[in-house]
Amino acid sequence: MLDDYKGVQVKLEDTFGRRFNYLRLSITEMCNFRCNYCLPNGNDCDTAKDGMTVAEIQTLVQAFAAMGTTKIRITGGEPALRKDLTDIIAICKQTQGIQKVALTTNGFLLKRDIGKYQDAGLDAINVSADSLDPRMFAAITGKQKLKDILLGIDKAISAGIKDVKLNTVMLKQFNYAELGAFFDYLKQHPVTWRFIELMQTGDNQTFFADNHVPGNTIKSTLIDQGWQRIVRTKDAGPAQEFSHPDFKGNIGLIMPYSKDFCNACNRLRVSSQGKLHLCLFAEQGLNIRHLLTLGDVEQTCATIVTHLQDKKISHYLTDGFTGATKQLAMLGG
Ligand code: 5AD
Ligand code: SF4
Repeated sequence: MLDDYKGVQVKLEDTFGRRFNYLRLSITEMCNFRCNYCLPNGNDCDTAKDGMTVAEIQTLVQAFAAMGTTKIRITGGEPALRKDLTDIIAICKQTQGIQKVALTTNGFLLKRDIGKYQDAGLDAINVSADSLDPRMFAAITGKQKLKDILLGIDKAISAGIKDVKLNTVMLKQFNYAELGAFFDYLKQHPVTWRFIELMQTGDNQTFFADNHVPGNTIKSTLIDQGWQRIVRTKDAGPAQEFSHPDFKGNIGLIMPYSKDFCNACNRLRVSSQGKLHLCLFAEQGLNIRHLLTLGDVEQTCATIVTHLQDKKISHYLTDGFTGATKQLAMLGG
């Protein structure tokens, strides 16, 4: 990390002393799935806008790397809908200072493309896997794709991607009854299965009321069944991780409603439109696209540092506040 980038004071630290070394980069708002907790009606095609170009992304990544960012997660929408995804992975990985490039995907092209992603330098992958039952999977996501996705996951494991995670949004009326089946999968598969507490967004109020399962309910089940908390490393994000001697895989709990969830916040977000978001739920986003179009790394750094001073201590989800976030496909969770 540079102490000083062409005269800009570079330190991604907010007024609460949190350091930000992790960028979540959305490259498209579009998605081809219609997960019932996210985009139950699919994307509204009228709102599809051009995402950042590869050159704009390069400027952005150079700026973040110059300010100490070491990890980038590429998200969407569904990032694999962009034909240049592999180029974007490569550009992130080749930027000096970036140590880890991760991808969040619904997995629809994983089986075909995981080799290309790996050649481009991909280190880690998170795949949405909301059910192990094909009918339930289709009920949640609107797609009959489970078999292909599970094959893609197996391929990622055997290709040697070190960090494979599966993401499940836990839904009381849908996949919650499958918890035991998820555990069974972890007996043989060296992945981390992350159970995500459903979050309320502007668009899902009734669904939220019907389907929210408190993260602590799942945590009690884990502890009853002998899962043990893995000690957090200093730079770990907000997930709580658990392991069990009888299982190859681990479990992660993401409990955005738990007390102090935001204390470990280490991430900033940029939308596919080139807007900086200080929090998943906070605000409309600060448009920095013009600086990216100009290729102005220095001014991009300065603008991000200035804006970061406005970051709040926490989201206010427990007050029912969902901010500007209508659905998470805008920012990729
Ligand atoms: N609550 C929790 N997680 C969500 N995601 C999308 N919508 C929600 C929501 N309402 C997450 C899912 C998915 C990722 C792209 O975003 O985990 O894997
Ligand atoms: Fe698409 Fe992911 Fe939202 Fe599902 S959760 S609709 S896969 S963006």
